[in-house]
Amino acid sequence: MVKRKRRRPATRQPRQTSDRVAAGDVSAMRSVPDEIGRPDYAATGVPVLQAPANLIKDDAALARMRIAGSAARRVLREVAAEIAPGVTTDHLDAVCHEACIAEGGYPSPLNYNGYPKSLCTSVNEIICHGIPDSRALREGDIVNCDVTIFLNGVHGDHSETFAVGQIDQRSEDLIRTTRECLYLGIGAVRSGGVVRDIGKAIQNHAESAGLGVVREFIGHGVGEVFHHQPNIPHYYEPSARFQFAPGMTFTIEPMITIGSPQAHLWQDGWTAATADLSRTAQFEHTVLVREDGVEILTLDEDEAQPFLPNADRQKWPLTIPPNQGELRA
Ligand code: CO
Repeated sequence: MVKRKRRRPATRQPRQTSDRVAAGDVSAMRSVPDEIGRPDYAATGVPVLQAPANLIKDDAALARMRIAGSAARRVLREVAAEIAPGVTTDHLDAVCHEACIAEGGYPSPLNYNGYPKSLCTSVNEIICHGIPDSRALREGDIVNCDVTIFLNGVHGDHSETFAVGQIDQRSEDLIRTTRECLYLGIGAVRSGGVVRDIGKAIQNHAESAGLGVVREFIGHGVGEVFHHQPNIPHYYEPSARFQFAPGMTFTIEPMITIGSPQAHLWQDGWTAATADLSRTAQFEHTVLVREDGVEILTLDEDEAQPFLPNADRQKWPLTIPPNQGELRA
């Protein structure tokens, strides 16, 4: 595991400190209408539901997971449509919040362990869990928007990284490779296979592009409980031998870095930045292990499923669902 990263020659421009993302003002917590069903932690901020003893979901639960997953996809599409220079991440949060409610769901991040907002917006060197605030997006930024919706008693978790206007080539390469990592990770899932297959595929691809894989944050089982077993590391972890079986649902959400993947937590206790302030990107789907392949739950009903029998799995690059940022272009 102490595989040495292949590094690019030292032509890297040191980043200007003025470029570093600065925290803005966080607006008041938004409210959710009474008729919307809430997760266990919504009122107190403290999750109380235990992880399910049986990780295999029945057909009824899976039907609900599909509905929540496709809703998360549509909510993210609405958020993506708003991304532009000058737009604040607080505005993206408002769009996410209203879109979740319009779907009949609760924005899962809101008050989860006290998280103050309905969306995570992670800009440039922010790895994950960036809190939407009054900072306006700038031309050349990259931003990950991470949507989770709680609908019909289950969570659907989905994120993508978007370009704000024109971005530099390295950021473009980072986003493309990170997205490929996600789909290679999904493609490594097999009924009867083990968790470490995912991280192996992701780490190989990221490191052959000279990029780093974040270790501090991992994918997770998801369903009625927001985060449960199994843990899904995005790097090769030999001890991760948990075996997949049909009916299991979890996220794969690799965070890939241009520089060192080491993370540094902001004072707010949430925002995780790269320690060296290099840029980082993330893509995430919620997936279902099936006898006949892997179903991506965070796609709309009319989108192609690249890892089910009809798909051409041998082809590379895979025919993968479009980044919603590209749909806008
Ligand atoms: Co997640």
